[in-house]
Amino acid sequence: MRQEELELLLDDMSLHEKIYQLLQLPGTYYDGTVTTTGDNRDDSFSRDCVGQAGSVIGVCGAKEMKKIQDQIMESQPHHIPAVFMLDVVNGFRTIFPIPLAQGASFEPELSGRCARAAGKEAAVSGVQVTFAPMVDLVRDARWGRVMESTGEDPYLNSRFAEAMVTGFQGDDPGSPYSLAACVKHFAAYGAPTAGREYHAVDMSDRELHEYYLPAYQAAIDAGSELVMTAFNTLNGIPASGNTHLLREILRKEMGFEGVLIADYAALEDMIYHGFAENREAAARLALTAGVDIDMVTTIYSNELPRLVQEGKIEEKLIDEAVMRILQLKNRLGLFENPYKEADEREEQEVILCEEHRILAKEAAEKSFVLLKNEENLLPIADTGKKIALIGPYVNEKNIYGAWSFLGDSQDAVTIQEGVEKVYQQNLLTYAKGSPMLDESEEAKIMVEGFYHEKENRGNEQKLLEEALALAEEADVVVLALGEHFQQTGEGASRADITLPQPQMNLFREIKKTNKKVAVILFSGRPLDIRELAEEADAILEVWMPGTEGGTAIAETLAGIHNPSGKLSMSFPWCVGQVPVFYNQPSTGKPYHDGEKSGRFRSRYLDIPNGPLYPFGYGKSYTVFEYLDYYITSEILRKEGSITAGVTIKNTGEHEGTETVQLYIQDCFASVVRPVKELKGFQKIKLKPGEEQEVSFAITEPMLRFWKSEGIKDSEAGEFKVYIGTDSNCETALGFYLE
Ligand code: GLC
Repeated sequence: MRQEELELLLDDMSLHEKIYQLLQLPGTYYDGTVTTTGDNRDDSFSRDCVGQAGSVIGVCGAKEMKKIQDQIMESQPHHIPAVFMLDVVNGFRTIFPIPLAQGASFEPELSGRCARAAGKEAAVSGVQVTFAPMVDLVRDARWGRVMESTGEDPYLNSRFAEAMVTGFQGDDPGSPYSLAACVKHFAAYGAPTAGREYHAVDMSDRELHEYYLPAYQAAIDAGSELVMTAFNTLNGIPASGNTHLLREILRKEMGFEGVLIADYAALEDMIYHGFAENREAAARLALTAGVDIDMVTTIYSNELPRLVQEGKIEEKLIDEAVMRILQLKNRLGLFENPYKEADEREEQEVILCEEHRILAKEAAEKSFVLLKNEENLLPIADTGKKIALIGPYVNEKNIYGAWSFLGDSQDAVTIQEGVEKVYQQNLLTYAKGSPMLDESEEAKIMVEGFYHEKENRGNEQKLLEEALALAEEADVVVLALGEHFQQTGEGASRADITLPQPQMNLFREIKKTNKKVAVILFSGRPLDIRELAEEADAILEVWMPGTEGGTAIAETLAGIHNPSGKLSMSFPWCVGQVPVFYNQPSTGKPYHDGEKSGRFRSRYLDIPNGPLYPFGYGKSYTVFEYLDYYITSEILRKEGSITAGVTIKNTGEHEGTETVQLYIQDCFASVVRPVKELKGFQKIKLKPGEEQEVSFAITEPMLRFWKSEGIKDSEAGEFKVYIGTDSNCETALGFYLE
């Protein structure tokens, strides 16, 4: 439709009809295969609401979607199609690694391909908008939703945000097999006080702009059609009622013109925040702040008509919101084709197709991070060694992560299934060794709607004895350990981020056999793994690797694939160090771990300042040497460019991929600057003996930062350049910005 036609349509709509466009109903209000993703609120929706809702959440399945679309268009006075939205985060039915793992690939283009594939499976199943990418910057491993983020760095998160938006939307969200993206959660949801879910967020406008907004901006610049508000307060005001955040910053400063949707019942949360006295106030505050869609409550639909009739809210605000929703539907082509690509036949062909499985394996392999590998224990070549695969994750199919409810864990390839395709069978033995969780740990995740098959209890000693017997017989032990997948995700903050007790007991008992032990670590967050780091001979972090996780792990264990992942989020030395992140500001009394110093330094008495494993860290089966650093000039003029570079040589015995990272430090400025900031990265693949030069252009815009007066600019002065294999790299080059 042309804009003029949309305007005529809007003019012809009644007030109630317009308000129903602002309502998003859960699919449970319609028959069909639905999934709710939040606690079911006790809102009762009127028949009109149900019949005329502007959008629907939680429906998937071409047949179901078409039936609901027909029902809505039939009862909608102007036959306006609904728009169908769903959380397609790291996969639809083919599940890719969790976003924190994808961040560790340092390959945004790969995540773009994963988003494209997930979007295609969703589009043929009737989904038109995905609530992704989640781009919240994260520094606190206690928070359960770090698994949904691509990590702690604004530059890296921005590259992934734009790649994922482009992956989902293609050139335009109305194009075939594209979904509209909805970047979330605006804003700074990743910085809750004490790492506790939904807790308050307080930070300066400068901190917000320097670290937390860049990735949202990148998603908006990439064309994200929607933005979702966050559950948290920001500086005392809930995001969904925060006019400064939504109208001043998001709309005016960041230039967002699309649809703004509240997170799940977030309008109602404002009452519990103690911000809105009642539902009427919540409706007024949210609409005034600029929220277009009320997700799953009756607040807009029940309160706005009266607020308009009593002159407490301008109907113009409703018209603006409705127009944005009509324009979204128009850009999706729904007025011409309300079903878009929903197609039962194509569902059978596209969903879980071989091409998507191959991509899932590639994404998993590239996300694995080799944290430790003493005496090159890994890879374990298939040379007659007897391998005991032990642990609750050896044959575990729930390896998808918390936001993959559309996947079927039965599709997953376990480690056992994977190694059987790679190694000679007579060399492998398997034992579970321990339960995943002890009873108290299990009870903590067994809440309404989040049940899983309960562990069998009472056989723990037998499990351990079987495992120890196999370990004694083996040449090497591979221990598959990890968090339960429901110990991460929404509503899963943890104050103790160690591995489950039964698994640590298993690890200690296996260590007593004096066999070499390689740990395969499954997690949705950085964990406190000090003891593993001390005692294991090798550690491979595999996150929640998705459908082809077992295949990718097996091929990595066997050396068919050489791990290349680099941490996108620091592993803390212990939970007491959290939040810990590489791009921290210097202090007035700096301290560097290991140096001799007096008492009065910025340090702890009992632990180091540095994390256990830093941002950007990841080992390889081979060795990369950094040689011949250079910089083309020690003076950078405002409009000029200089180049810094290095030669990388593979001096090991395996082909491998290295992610070369560029960090810059602004040594002196009107605002204290981080000791390092990631400004670029390049992945290179080298055969043994091969070498390659890697160079980075440095220009003045890269050096701009948010100053105290709220403008973004650079300042002349001294800068240091680090090019290396992780954020601890030390070889510094230098230049002066004129
Ligand atoms: C949830 C999440 C959000 C998700 C929404 C809809 O509570 O916070 O990320 O998109 O509900 O499922």
